[in-house]
Amino acid sequence: MKFKICTTSFQTILFLLILVASFWLISIAGANCRPSGRLRGKKPPSGKCNRENESECCKKGKVYHTFKCSPPISHHTKAILTLNSFEKGGDGGGPSECDNKFYSDNTPVVALSTGWFNDKKRCHHNITIFGKGRRVHAMVVDECDSKRGCDAEHDFLPPCPNNVVDASKAVWKALGVPKRDWGESDIHWSDA
Ligand SMILES: *[C@@H]1O[C@H](CO)[C@@H](O)[C@H](O)[C@H]1NC(C)=O
Ligand SMILES: *[C@@H]1O[C@H](CO)[C@@H](O)[C@H](O)[C@H]1NC(C)=O
Repeated sequence: MKFKICTTSFQTILFLLILVASFWLISIAGANCRPSGRLRGKKPPSGKCNRENESECCKKGKVYHTFKCSPPISHHTKAILTLNSFEKGGDGGGPSECDNKFYSDNTPVVALSTGWFNDKKRCHHNITIFGKGRRVHAMVVDECDSKRGCDAEHDFLPPCPNNVVDASKAVWKALGVPKRDWGESDIHWSDA
């Protein structure tokens, strides 16, 4: 009988510990950025989404997550560096969101995912990009839209992930990345 009570209280304590740990894990998850919605891809009309790599275009029926937030910013924020042209007629589409201008591929400029772009609050601020053992300064001029995508306005590209620094060729060059490897790379960034 005594032994049984012992086991029972041990189980109660174990149960309480698991309960506390679960709440703790849920609160940590809540501090991170969760998707704000989903959208279903449409097939780009013919002649739309002319990519070197068609794999980037929206796929019919594929579900994409959308985000209004990005992961928290630190001195060393982890991100994915992608390649974009901010020139007129480049694959960035229209002029930049910050000032309605186009930028040469020789200028180090970037677009940031919606959460980090922060409703234009980072416009014309400079960031430091750390990658391949080097650091490069670049100016924020555009948003990489995480909220919407797969429509004409976004050239039938999926919504941007929430952790992207979309950079001009000048940035890739300054990081010393060989041209054949331009496209996607793990980097860190901070406000300059
Ligand atoms: C960012 O850098 C550019 C080019 O070096 C400079 O013209 C601009 O004033 C800088 N922006 C800020 C907010 O310091
Ligand atoms: C193009 O697609 C191939 C095959 O899916 C992939 O390995 C490569 O990284 C892609 N290139 C770019 C620039 O996205």
